[in-house]
Amino acid sequence: MISEHEISLARTTDALSIAELSRDAIEYGLSWRWTARRVMRCIHDVDTNVVVIRSGSTGVPAFAIMQYGEEEAHIALLAVRAVRRRSGLGSALLAWLEATVRAAGLTAIRLEVRITNLAGLAFYRHHGFEEVGVSVGYYEGVEDAVRMVKRLSPSDAG
Ligand SMILES: CC(C)(COP(=O)(O)OP(=O)(O)OC[C@H]1O[C@@H](n2cnc3c(N)ncnc32)[C@H](O)[C@@H]1OP(=O)(O)O)[C@@H](O)C(=O)NCCC(=O)NCCS
Repeated sequence: MISEHEISLARTTDALSIAELSRDAIEYGLSWRWTARRVMRCIHDVDTNVVVIRSGSTGVPAFAIMQYGEEEAHIALLAVRAVRRRSGLGSALLAWLEATVRAAGLTAIRLEVRITNLAGLAFYRHHGFEEVGVSVGYYEGVEDAVRMVKRLSPSDAG
């Protein structure tokens, strides 16, 4: 895919950097569930894509994890390091994921966002995701999740 950012599948050596970014940017205030071991399992799972943007040797500045189902895909995690935000990295990752979902002929992408994560909600709304519900106490009983979906029709593949 042509992008100004270099996006590639994660290597096992990226697992710790990804897990630490998840802990700090997504799982703050919760138990650290996306450990390096779990990320490693995802890297090896044929139904999951773990993708990263690389730059220099300072760890992974942005990553996403998406699972493919029979009909739909699910974004489990997507994060950009704080110092690199608002420069299109998140959008580049999402565009890559969306292209693969379309290529696979799936019909929708689903995800959950912490209800207090206004940046995350704004980001996904900006990219055409709609809110379809709230899961009360989804995050260890301490925070609700907003469920979002982007439906993809074959006619707007491009
Ligand atoms: C949400 C997140 C992934 C966005 O990544 P990013 O690289 O900064 O996003 P982009 O630069 O591609 O932004 C694209 C658009 O999304 C919207 N957006 C992104 N961050 C926003 C914010 N903090 N407030 C409002 N709108 C925002 C804007 O419309 C933006 O376009 P603009 O910069 O031209 O105004 C990033 O803030 C992040 O990693 N947050 C912590 C983890 C997280 O919340 N992940 C998502 C839930 S799992």
